Amino acid sequence: MSICEYKPGLENIPATQSSISFVDGQQGILEYRGINIEELGQYSSFLETSYLLIWGGLPTEEELAEFEHEIRYHRRLKYRIRDMMKCFPESGHPMDALQACAAALGLFYSRRALDNPAYIRAAVVRLLAKIPTMVAAFQLMRKGNDPVQPRDDLDYSANFLYMLNEREPDPLAARIFDICLILHAEHTINASTFSAMVTASTLTDPYAVVASAVGTLAGPLHGGANEEVIEMLEEIGSVDNVHAYLDSCLERKAKIMGFGHRVYKVKDPRATILQDLAEQLFEKFGRDEYYDIAVALEQAVAEKLGHKGIYPNVDFYSGLVYRKMGIPTDLFTPVFAIARVAGWLAHWKEQLAENRIFRPTQIYTGARNAPYIPSEKRQSTQDKDLLAGLIAE
Ligand code: CMC
Repeated sequence: MSICEYKPGLENIPATQSSISFVDGQQGILEYRGINIEELGQYSSFLETSYLLIWGGLPTEEELAEFEHEIRYHRRLKYRIRDMMKCFPESGHPMDALQACAAALGLFYSRRALDNPAYIRAAVVRLLAKIPTMVAAFQLMRKGNDPVQPRDDLDYSANFLYMLNEREPDPLAARIFDICLILHAEHTINASTFSAMVTASTLTDPYAVVASAVGTLAGPLHGGANEEVIEMLEEIGSVDNVHAYLDSCLERKAKIMGFGHRVYKVKDPRATILQDLAEQLFEKFGRDEYYDIAVALEQAVAEKLGHKGIYPNVDFYSGLVYRKMGIPTDLFTPVFAIARVAGWLAHWKEQLAENRIFRPTQIYTGARNAPYIPSEKRQSTQDKDLLAGLIAE
C-alpha cells in the first residue's frame, strides 16, 4: 500500500461510503436519501424525516403512524435518570448533562443484540423519544422545578416546547421548530457523526454511540457555534459596530462564529431556510433586535471574505429562531443534538451493516530509542506558571 499524504482534519479524505445524505458545497445543495432539504422542510415532519434517514425510504402512512405511536409511548424518563439529574450542578452546561444522560441509558438497556432488528428499532425509538425529555427536564430542574411529564396528545416538537416552557406552544412556533429539527437532522460525515461511527465500529451499545457524538457536537467549532453566534451579536451590540467588529476579528485572525464550512463554499442552504423561518416568526411575534446586526454582518463578511468562500452556515440564523421561541442560549446546542440523533442513528445502522473497526494510521514525529533518565537527572517539561494556575483552580 502506498504511503498517503497527511491531511490535517482529514480534509477531502473519504472515511466511509454512505447513501444517507449528499452535499454539493459549490451549488449549496443538501439532500437526505436523494430528497432535497427544501422539499423536506416544506412537506415533511421531523419524525418522518428521521424514519427516512434511518430506514432509507419514506414511511407509508401506517408505518409513520406506528413509529410516531412508539415514540410517544417511550418519551418518559425512568425516575432513576431523573434522580441522577438532580445531582447535576445547575451551573453545568446542558450538553454535559445530556451526554451523561444518554450514556446512562446504556445502564438500563445493556443487552447488546446488534444483529437483531427489534433491538435496533427499540434503541432508535428510545433515543429519539427520550433525548428531548432529558433536555427539557434538565432545564426545569436547574431552575429548581420538577420536570414536566410529556403529553401524549402533542406531537414531537409541540411536546418538547410544552415540556420546556410548561405551556402549549403556538402552532406556528411548533411547526417552525419541527422544520429546524429537519434541517439539523443529518449532514454527511461531520465531526460528531464521525465520532458516532468510530464508536459504533467497536460494536459498543447505541447509547455510548450517541453519548460520544453529543460530546463532539458540544465544541464551538461544531454545534456549539450557534450559542456563540448570539454572544457575538450581543457583543457587537449595534449595526454601526459591525465593520469595526469584523476588522478586529480579521486583525486577530479570530473566526467569525456561524460562518465558514469545510464543505460549503456558498451560503449554506439551511441558513437560507432558517433566515426565512426567523422572518416568519418576527412577522408574528415581533422583530429581534439582533436580526439587523446579523444581516449587516452577513453582508460585511461577504464583502471581505466571500472570495474565500466564507458565508453563513447552519448555526448563524438558527440561534435567532430559537431566541424568538424563548429557548435559552445554552440550550441551542442540545436542540441541535435532539435533531442530529436521527443522523447519528442512521450512520450507526449503516456502519453496522458493513462494519470494520476504524483504525487509521499515523505519521510518527517523536523520538526513537530514547534513554530512560533517572528521576534525579530529569529536567521538567512542565510550564511551572501554568501548573501553579491549575493547582489554584
Ligand atoms: N471566520 C473567518 N475566517 C474563516 C472562518 C470564519 N468563520 N472560517 C474559515 N475562515 C478562513 C480561515 O481563516 C482560513 O483562512 P486562510 O486560508 O487565509 O488561513 C480559511 O477560511 C479556511 O479555514 P479553516 O479553518 O481551515 O477551515 P476548516 O474547514 O478547517 O473549518 C470551520 C471549518 C467550520 C470549523 C470554520 O469555518 C470555523 O471555525 N467557523 C466558525 C465556527 C462555526 O461557525 N462552526 C459551525 C460549523 S457548521 C455547522 C456545524 O458543524 O455545527
